[in-house]
Amino acid sequence: MVTSSGKASRARKQSLTEERKLDHIRICLERDVQSICPTGFNDIRLVHNAVPEINLSDVDLECVFLGHQLKAPLMITAMTGGHSEATPINQNIAQAVEELGLAMGVGSQRAALEDNSLSDSFTIARRTAPTAFLVGNIGAPQLSLGYGVKEARAAIEMIGANALAIHFNAAQEAVQPEGEATFTGVLHSLRTLIRDIEVPLIAKETGAGIDREAARHLAKTGIKALDIAGLGGTSWPAVEVERAKAGDTRKALLGRWFADWGIPTAASTYEVSRSVNLPIITSGGVRTGIDAAKAIALGAQLVGVSLPVLAPATVSAKAVRVYLEALISGLKASMFLVGASNLEELSKAPLVIGGDTQNWLLSRGYNPSQLASRSIK
Ligand SMILES: Cc1cc2nc3c(=O)[nH]c(=O)nc-3n(C[C@H](O)[C@H](O)[C@H](O)COP(=O)(O)O)c2cc1C
Repeated sequence: MVTSSGKASRARKQSLTEERKLDHIRICLERDVQSICPTGFNDIRLVHNAVPEINLSDVDLECVFLGHQLKAPLMITAMTGGHSEATPINQNIAQAVEELGLAMGVGSQRAALEDNSLSDSFTIARRTAPTAFLVGNIGAPQLSLGYGVKEARAAIEMIGANALAIHFNAAQEAVQPEGEATFTGVLHSLRTLIRDIEVPLIAKETGAGIDREAARHLAKTGIKALDIAGLGGTSWPAVEVERAKAGDTRKALLGRWFADWGIPTAASTYEVSRSVNLPIITSGGVRTGIDAAKAIALGAQLVGVSLPVLAPATVSAKAVRVYLEALISGLKASMFLVGASNLEELSKAPLVIGGDTQNWLLSRGYNPSQLASRSIK
């Protein structure tokens, strides 16, 4: 029996989830929430080809991701949903993604799973993007706290999802004032879920990266892709600093200390792509078409961006489109300048890796200089 005080406490929890989501959007729009630790892309150089022997207009970005044809290897990764202000944001992203033939992830669907009246801000994505590759989103901590097949199916159904992302946000939960840092048994729960769910599952970090050991554990669960969401872009501990500042000095300090915690995006991409045979999405601080090209040359199949799309998404679908088209043009130009006419060729482009990324990879037992002498053809 649900008592009235039980109902009241559930309602309070739901509205807190909603409020928290809104806080996140506002903070990400108004404050500097990016890690000061670099992604590592600046340690990496693609080798310029002065005689590319291809035409820029012939560069082909088409690819297939988890069985779905995309016009470019780009996903706008999970950001929002669960409150009314998220509806136009998701609508604008969805429209741009539909027009450009890209992929889109929605933010955590937890709020709408707890209160169906909040589902509009998610369903708008599928209504606006009827043919796009859409990815649903629930949190790994929720799996440990009892979410299972029923909730996962409801999240998928809500947006007609082509895949479901399970986000791993341990760093955020550890510093969040009301964090749920509960990951015990999560691999087991994931394995069980994957058995019964009809669409592919993607394991996704949220800005602290995935290392090769975690990638191998995840691969054994039957997960179909990994979004490494590495360090160097949006930092969730940094976001939580802003939320904790007002009331909780201890958590604010924790957030500050952990704002640069994690595995830089470039190193994470390199490690994971060499340790598991799964498609990899590289995200976390990808900001330019050149970053995107480096990510693919390091081993990613897809590149993900979140924060750069948020501000344009509060304006219009056209504003989102402008940014995404610039990203696509930058990726195409990079490919032209290394002489790669398609993504397969880009994945073999020589890379010169120095600085902290080289140190990281050498310390982890890799030989990154091998990539400097490989060739596209
Ligand atoms: C406003 C905002 C909200 C986010 N919410 C979610 C979320 O609900 N679920 C999730 O898996 N990741 C979420 N993320 C993390 C992103 O999907 C991404 O992994 C991370 O921000 C790194 O990419 P970026 O540096 O391009 O922002 C959010 C990011 C932003 C900026």
